[in-house]
Amino acid sequence: MTVTLRPALGRDLAALYRLEQVAFTGDRFSRRQLWHLLNRAHALTLVAEQRSPEGGPPRLLGYGTLLFRRGTRRARLYSFCVHPDVRGSGLGRRLLEALEAEALAREAEVLGLEVRADNQVALGLYRRMGFRPERWLGDYYEDGCAGWQMAKPLQAEPGAARVREG
Ligand SMILES: CC(C)(COP(=O)(O)OP(=O)(O)OC[C@H]1O[C@@H](n2cnc3c(N)ncnc32)[C@H](O)[C@@H]1OP(=O)(O)O)[C@@H](O)C(=O)NCCC(=O)NCCS
Repeated sequence: MTVTLRPALGRDLAALYRLEQVAFTGDRFSRRQLWHLLNRAHALTLVAEQRSPEGGPPRLLGYGTLLFRRGTRRARLYSFCVHPDVRGSGLGRRLLEALEAEALAREAEVLGLEVRADNQVALGLYRRMGFRPERWLGDYYEDGCAGWQMAKPLQAEPGAARVREG
């Protein structure tokens, strides 16, 4: 399976919305919220897409969005998911590594995120990738589930490549 990572474009909105429906069980973004994320200057979304060898439309298999704020070198991983059909094949880790490289390229020194306390797969991935819990967030999600705020100091890895524009 050849999967390419690239920055999201306005035309990805419909596919992103469909992915959001199947990838998350709650706290999903609306179409309007996704539009806002794609079109505001201080957010960056990377998408993972699989191109069909027959030349049909590419399939969106994952995405992650970073938020940046003026006056701080802390970026935030705001949304991140992989299509259920292809989970466990390393795409989540690859996407997260690419997002870290993008945050570093924008001079972020720390990447922060929030994750549901019952999301063992995401928590395990974040821990193994060097994120550490910073703060317990009681009653944080729409169903009352608690969360963890986590963060990772960012450092340039020799040879780590950013994704190309396109
Ligand atoms: C979290 C998520 C993005 C991970 O994507 P993925 O493509 O499955 O991730 P990977 O294949 O790179 O696997 C990441 C790690 O989790 C492990 N893993 C994946 N699926 C697993 C499962 N069902 N059970 C246990 N471990 C699992 C992998 O072994 C891997 O371990 P490693 O880091 O030691 O190699 C994906 O599960 C997802 O979209 N979940 C729903 C949305 C979500 O929870 N997003 C995060 C919100 S904070």
